[in-house]
Amino acid sequence: MSETIEPRKIVIDLKKLIVEPYTRKKEVKLSELKDYCAYPEDAEKILAKGEDPVIYEYYEYTPTEKPGNINFGLTIIYPGKIGKEYYMTKGHFHEKDAAEFYFCLKGKGLLLMQNKLGEVATIELEPGSLGYVPPGWGHRTINTGRGKFVFFFAYPSDAGHDYMLVKEKGFAKIVIEEAKTVKIIDNPRYQKLSQ
Ligand SMILES: [Fe+2]
Repeated sequence: MSETIEPRKIVIDLKKLIVEPYTRKKEVKLSELKDYCAYPEDAEKILAKGEDPVIYEYYEYTPTEKPGNINFGLTIIYPGKIGKEYYMTKGHFHEKDAAEFYFCLKGKGLLLMQNKLGEVATIELEPGSLGYVPPGWGHRTINTGRGKFVFFFAYPSDAGHDYMLVKEKGFAKIVIEEAKTVKIIDNPRYQKLSQ
């Protein structure tokens, strides 16, 4: 079966912070993120007040899942904290050996990565800097600034996403604010992959 992908122009609107056209828009609210938080009791406290803030959203253009193509889009992480943990994405591993990059356009944040041996790497991102995620490294982005943290991402269309590994085991490190500074500390809820 052959599939024809037509050449096309896509606009990344840096004022409106959208991708046009896009094939998928997703908003992730606190209620969806809470199981990924290091301090879920703090998430529950916010939700108990009847609040369910949007933590991040993304617009993605997916031409197809056929190998050889590229998915790309824009992620906007809002500023804020759940307890002392900064707003962040769920994070995931790719199902296949597939890299990804994040090119920061606005704000500032961290790209947190971890491989399946449990080794951790972090890259600070600010406008104009690009974080490269090699194949095999799980990845999460965290807004450590006061404004929106916005970045452009791209990865192979057939990469696949594994969120369960992060949901069940967590990342070894978390990013928190303590004494008004950004700290990368051990995740109290982390379970090693070997367990
Ligand atoms: Fe990814």
